[in-house]
Amino acid sequence: MLFDSHVHLNDSDLFPIAEELIQRAIQAGTTHFHVIGYDVVTNLRAIELANKYPTVYMALGYHPTAAKDILPADLHLLEEQLLHPKCVAIGECGLDYYWDKENEQIQKSVFQFQIELANKTKKPLVIHMRDSAHDTLEMLKKYKHSSTQGIMHCYSGSVEMVRDFLDQNMYISLAGPVTFKNARVPKEVAMHIPMDRFLIETDSPWLAPMPYRGKQNEPSYLPYIAQEIASMRNLSYEEFAQITFENTCRLLKISI
Ligand code: NI
Repeated sequence: MLFDSHVHLNDSDLFPIAEELIQRAIQAGTTHFHVIGYDVVTNLRAIELANKYPTVYMALGYHPTAAKDILPADLHLLEEQLLHPKCVAIGECGLDYYWDKENEQIQKSVFQFQIELANKTKKPLVIHMRDSAHDTLEMLKKYKHSSTQGIMHCYSGSVEMVRDFLDQNMYISLAGPVTFKNARVPKEVAMHIPMDRFLIETDSPWLAPMPYRGKQNEPSYLPYIAQEIASMRNLSYEEFAQITFENTCRLLKISI
């Protein structure tokens, strides 16, 4: 059994075929899904999926590239939506200076709001970080309570900074790039994440692993990622699957 710790079945491309994707994933061994919202519409769709499918859980929040369009009423709405019993995390939130260089201050204030919500609700954060490792770490140090946990989703930072995020009570999640032949950094990172903080994800519909690189990603491809990391770490597929499954349940406070 695998737990896809970050999947966007609520994205426009996947939402209409979610039923089929979930069936196919379960057949392939990906039985549990952490569906991640990133704006007003995808948060609503995440709630719909969580209501419909027993093994779908969700994170609700606002992505840094959506931050500029978020209104005060949307922040208030999020606070209410977090009360849903299957909302197990906040995000995805964070900082992205790759896709949006102009709105650094707005991104920071929407991120700060969500960090403070996580402190208040004791839910973990789902963090998106792109070309922003320094500022993301500084924001966590400044606003996050030490007991608040989280996920560095599709971690793309350096090996050196893995330690800094572990010290911030973060779990590290790896996605499709770890299966790419020339992906030196993700492979090195995979060797350095402590087993008790390791999560895996597809980040579907993006970042399909080998041998589907470049195609639309889906949660049934998660075993390719698990297999690659298991071999690198000299574990059996079953051992690595069990460890990451239990890590996800522990962090998201899901009892199965
Ligand atoms: Ni995502």
